[in-house]
Amino acid sequence: MCGIVGYIGDGSAKEAILTGLKNLEYRGYDSAGIAIGKKDKILLRKESGELENLIAKTQKSDFDGTIGIGHTRWATHGSPIRENAHPHLSADGRVAIVHNGIIENYIELKHMLTEEHGIIFKSETDSEVIAQLIGIYYEGDLLEAVRAAVKCVRGAYAIGVMAADVSDTIIAVRKDAPLIAGIGEGCNYLASDIPAVLGHTRDIYVIENDEIVVITKDDIKIYDEDMTRVSRDIMHVEWDAAAAEKGGYEDFMKKEIFEQPRGVKETLERRLTEGDEIWLDGIELSKEEIENIDRIYIVACGTASYAGIQGVTLFEKFAGIPSESDIASEFRYRNPLVNERTLCVCISQSGETTDTLEALREAKRKGARILSICNVVGSSVARESDDVMFTWAGPEIAVASTKAYTTQLICLYLLALYMGRAKGTLPDAEYRSVLAELKQIPDKLTEVLKTEDQIKTLAEKFYIKEQVFYIGRGMDVGTAFEASLKLKEITYINSFAIAAGELKHGTIALVRNQTLFFVLATQDKLYEKMLSNIEEIKARKAYVVSVAKEGNTRVAKVSDETIYIPNCADDVAPILAVVPMQLLAYHIAKMLKRNIDKPRNLAKSVTVE
Ligand code: AGP
Repeated sequence: MCGIVGYIGDGSAKEAILTGLKNLEYRGYDSAGIAIGKKDKILLRKESGELENLIAKTQKSDFDGTIGIGHTRWATHGSPIRENAHPHLSADGRVAIVHNGIIENYIELKHMLTEEHGIIFKSETDSEVIAQLIGIYYEGDLLEAVRAAVKCVRGAYAIGVMAADVSDTIIAVRKDAPLIAGIGEGCNYLASDIPAVLGHTRDIYVIENDEIVVITKDDIKIYDEDMTRVSRDIMHVEWDAAAAEKGGYEDFMKKEIFEQPRGVKETLERRLTEGDEIWLDGIELSKEEIENIDRIYIVACGTASYAGIQGVTLFEKFAGIPSESDIASEFRYRNPLVNERTLCVCISQSGETTDTLEALREAKRKGARILSICNVVGSSVARESDDVMFTWAGPEIAVASTKAYTTQLICLYLLALYMGRAKGTLPDAEYRSVLAELKQIPDKLTEVLKTEDQIKTLAEKFYIKEQVFYIGRGMDVGTAFEASLKLKEITYINSFAIAAGELKHGTIALVRNQTLFFVLATQDKLYEKMLSNIEEIKARKAYVVSVAKEGNTRVAKVSDETIYIPNCADDVAPILAVVPMQLLAYHIAKMLKRNIDKPRNLAKSVTVE
């Protein structure tokens, strides 16, 4: 979740780096810093808190140069104070580094550097050991010093390095943390993420694990760990930097909620042929290969894992393959029964979530085929998977995931339908009817978004609540979990989601006068059961807001309020039902004046375990 930016060229390093860091704000940070090389010196500025604090400290015109590195930090080792912000300097001040990731053996390295070299550390971070190691090894050859230093460290890293007496080169190295180099005119860039450089260039190199990059103003050279030159194709980024801006909406989250009809349409329709056959965009999954799959594990975190819960129902129903959804942070520690016949479906918006990546690697080690659903081209998940299905949602900036979730669902429907059809187990009529329902979803989403005024009125009523419950059955359970997470993360209201049938096994003890329940009741076949659940909680004086399909008037009779979604098949209802819940969380957060796009303690991409 930290961001790295580097610049070398004829222009202002300060401007390029600060713009880059601003473009990376969505990654989340709690301090920031910048180092500029000038006349054999390294000038350093760091500040905790908002980037504006750092910008204010860099205003003087003599704080600038033609080479520099910058960083936004999200604390892992050491509190979010100025001293812990990057860049970190070597003890003699000759070397500056920025680092994303975690150095696992930093305690022993710190001990060695203190005992054997008398180094006095200035920060509590693991990252500072890298600066000190390079400082120790640096005897005129910066590249060799970086190589020697990374040989000592264990862990994950993307590191950018500069030295006071090397005014023409930035060195960078990567292992298990994202890193790119941007190709400019009369300048070149280094960054952890593509948006950092998009204002300046669309041509980039994606740096792979264990590679080392030597960047000068006219050249970018990539080497493998043995210093063999690597040739890399230039990736031309098509997406527009403007797409990452708010586009007239107050917040990215609102913009992204309203982008769902388009994102879903793109993700769906670009994969359908004229005859309504599913085209998996380059993924080769033959009938034999599908028949060979005896189990599907879906692994993901947070919102993506709730998409995964829906995936289980879809794979079992349409493809007839036993499936399980697991939280990525638990998966690899329970020795999962994965083998060559397992398909592991990893879902990740960012493609950089460490837990998901590690689960992916564990499944890969055990022989599974890895098929990922991911929103970021060139991300680690995308690159390490055997196959990738991209969600064409466009960049998702708000920490709270919305359009990534609904487009992840679309990918899961397509994959499950494709597999069922290829195996011959899914009757043609069922296949065609589900596809027809899916094709209506973008328009129906537009209809759902029109409930915003009703939702806003509800938000005005409920924003003072301290506790909220979400219940549902069948595919509404996954929606309940996702709805509850949305409310929690952006409003900080305590919310709890549970399968409705489980209520009476304990949680119903919490129900009393005016306890607020959101009841997801979109599944026709479970409708009667949901009505009984509503009666159960109403009898204990709960306040019930239901989400039901248009035409289901019985639910309105037993509920205090009802939000209707357009009529649709049970199978596709989760894609619609989640949207009013996103809007509700959004409007409650708005009333509470929360920092909607960047909720406290959260970051967009969680690159630590
Ligand atoms: C969603 O609103 C969250 N902020 C979070 O749960 C997120 O979905 C999770 O961290 C997974 O991220 P990923 O999809 O980028 O892997």
